[in-house]
Parts: sequence; structure tokens; C-alpha cells
Amino acid sequence: MQHHTSSGQQETDGESPHARTLFEAFMDHSPAITYVKDERGRYVYTNRANASRFGMPISGKTDAELFSPELARQHQLQDAKVLEEGQAQEFTETSVEDDGEHTWHTIKFPVRDVEGRRFVGAMSFDVTDRKRIEDELRKTRDQQEGHIRERTQELNQANGSLRQLSARLLGLQDEERRRIARELHDSVGQMLVALGLNLGSIEGEAQGLNPELTRALVEHRALLQDAINEVRIVSYILHPPLLDETGLASAIRWYVEGFEERSDVAVQLDVPANFSRLSQEIETALFRIMQECLTNIVRHSHSKTAGVKVTQTEEQVVFTVRDAGRGIPREKLMRIKQLSGAGVGLRGIKERVRELGGILDIESDDTGTIVTVNLPVSAIEPPITPSQGCPEEKQA
Ligand SMILES: Nc1ncnc2c1ncn2[C@@H]1O[C@H](COP(=O)(O)OP(=O)(O)O)[C@@H](O)[C@H]1O
Ligand SMILES: [Mg+2]
Repeated sequence: MQHHTSSGQQETDGESPHARTLFEAFMDHSPAITYVKDERGRYVYTNRANASRFGMPISGKTDAELFSPELARQHQLQDAKVLEEGQAQEFTETSVEDDGEHTWHTIKFPVRDVEGRRFVGAMSFDVTDRKRIEDELRKTRDQQEGHIRERTQELNQANGSLRQLSARLLGLQDEERRRIARELHDSVGQMLVALGLNLGSIEGEAQGLNPELTRALVEHRALLQDAINEVRIVSYILHPPLLDETGLASAIRWYVEGFEERSDVAVQLDVPANFSRLSQEIETALFRIMQECLTNIVRHSHSKTAGVKVTQTEEQVVFTVRDAGRGIPREKLMRIKQLSGAGVGLRGIKERVRELGGILDIESDDTGTIVTVNLPVSAIEPPITPSQGCPEEKQA
């Protein structure tokens, strides 16, 4: 190969003494360490950077005389690999020197002289600073990741305890409603019945009363009847005794009937005749979900019709409430699905469903809304007919 020098002279590789000194100057000024070892691992050439590293001439020495046994062995293996594969290889290693630990990045490559003898040539770069910066960066990143992991864990824990709390609150609410319903029915209800009996005795003697008192008596009877009806309705809506006694299917039928009377929404009911009993938890949850959905239909949908449907297999129960109303606005629906903007009602539904390991789906557009709840069920008992009496109550 021919080179043009700045003076315009032509030179041939290796021939000019000037080129040779220039090459040596190049090697000696190189901050990278360079050396050549023969097949037996003896240094046959080394540049100034390498010589000053050891503070003594190293020509003719082997790695065993320069390095720890471990490092020397590492070099031997590297050299053998280079010679065996006949290809350049890169290595990174650390060595302890007078001023502390150094990291070296080395490229070793096979060299052959004109007589065909084999050597290992090497260029080594001190990458201690780069390595230190990389290590620091890695450490900072690991620390940051650690912080993020901790925060995530804390958030998950907080989330978990919030969920536990809301599930517990829903459970307590169910219990409370059940208790108040029973109290109303058993104490106030019984007092009203007693009042009615007393009123009956007075009515028996009514012929002796003046017209004003007779009128008052008739009014009392009517008021009493209203009070009895009201207490029954409030207590049943709070917690229908049917739900415990004969199960979800009859409680739904009863509730929907009353709902149609109280609202002007016509409900199409689709509950299989042979619907089995489910756990008290599931029955209560589905009943409350139906109540919330029907209330939402009256309050928000403007729909005049609704549909309530329950289907059951051995593994799951699917519960659907639909209406033909104006739908949930898109934005609101998105927030509801992300749980960030749901009202208390739908949020409660979501929590109940989650607590029971089920799936909630809300579809809504300007033709109406469909809420679907899918709950896994384990053991389904055969339907209980009223003659079998009340099932045992499982208290939460
Ligand atoms: N069937 C429905 N039709 C139209 N909009 C509904 C329906 N159900 C719920 N929504 C909308 O979703 C919102 C959230 O409902 P919900 O969580 O039950 O809270 P709330 O009833 O207390 O407002 C309602 O405010 C209403 O805008
Ligand atoms: Mg609501």
C-alpha cells in the first residue's frame, strides 16, 4: 500500500526508517496500553504507557511475574482463546494497582510475523472513570426503582385496606338494614297490631259515642291501617324477609311488583321458576344491586320500561338490569368504569361484585343502559319451598 506524506514523497509500508520512528512515537504517545506476547506468553513488545504502568521493563516477562495468580490465569485463558479462534476478542477486567482498583477494557487480536510465528497483540484502555460513572448511575437507578417499588407496595396496601374497609362497610350496612327492618317489623309493627286490637274493643262500643267521636274513630282506623302498611313497606324494602326465607328469586319478584306500583316503570321480569338458593352473601348482594339499578332507572334514565333477568348455571349466576332510557353520558361512563367518578351507588355495586370475585359490565348509550353482573357460585342448593321453612341464618 502506498501513502502520500505531506511533503509529497511516496513511501512504502515498513520500508522507510522515518515511518518506523513515527510508528514508535505513535505507540509511545498512545494513552492506550499496547503490547505483543509470543505464544508462550512472553512480552516481546510493549509501549511506554504499559512500561510506566509497571515501573520496570517487562520485555521477556510473563503475566505470572506481573500479576496475581488469578489475573495471570485470566490472561492466559484470554490469549489462548484469541490464538485458538484466530479472531479479535474484547475483555473487561479489574486489577488492583498502587493507586487503587482499575478497570481495563482490552481488545486482543492474533498477530503473525513475516515468518509465520503467532503472537497475541493487545490494546487496553483504562475505563475506570467510565465504569465508576456507570456504577453510580446504576446504583441511583436501582435506588429509584427501589423507591418506586416501595411506593407501589404502600399504595397497593392502602388500596387493599380501603377495599377491605368498603367491603366491611357494605357488610355492616346490610346487617344494619336487616336489624332495623326486623326491629321495625317486630316492635313497632306489633305495637300497631296491639293498637288495632284496642281500637277494635272501642269500635265494639261505638254505638254509644257521639258523631264527632265516631268520626274520629273511623279516622283512627284508617290512619292505623296506613301506619301498618307504611311500616311493613319500609321494613320490607330495608330487608325483605323473603330474601332470608325463600331466597333471591321470590324477593326479586316481590320487590319488582312493589317497585312497579311506586314508580311508573313497567318491569319485565325473567327469573327461572327453578332458581336455586345461593349463599346469603350472594343473594343479599344481588338484591341490593337490583335495588340500586332500579332506583337509578327511576332517578336518571327517564325510561318507562326496565328488564330484570337472572340466569344460573352450576358455576355462575348472571344478573342483568336494563332500561330503554337516555343512557349514562360517555364521559361519566368512562369515569365510572375507571372508578374515579362513579356515584356511591355504582361504586357500591362494583365493590360488592369485586368482593365476590365477579365481573361487572356496564353498557350504555342513548338507547339505554344494561348493567350485567357475573358472579361465580360454588355449591348451589336445591330450591327451598316455603313448606321447608326458613334456612339457617348465616350472620356476617
Ligand atoms: N340507568 C341509568 N340511566 C342513565 N344514567 C344513569 C343510570 N344509572 C346511573 N346513571 C348515571 O350514573 C351516575 C352514577 O350513578 P350512581 O353511582 O348510582 O350514583 P347516584 O345515583 O347517587 O347519582 C348517575 O348520577 C347518573 O348520571
Ligand atoms: Mg344511584
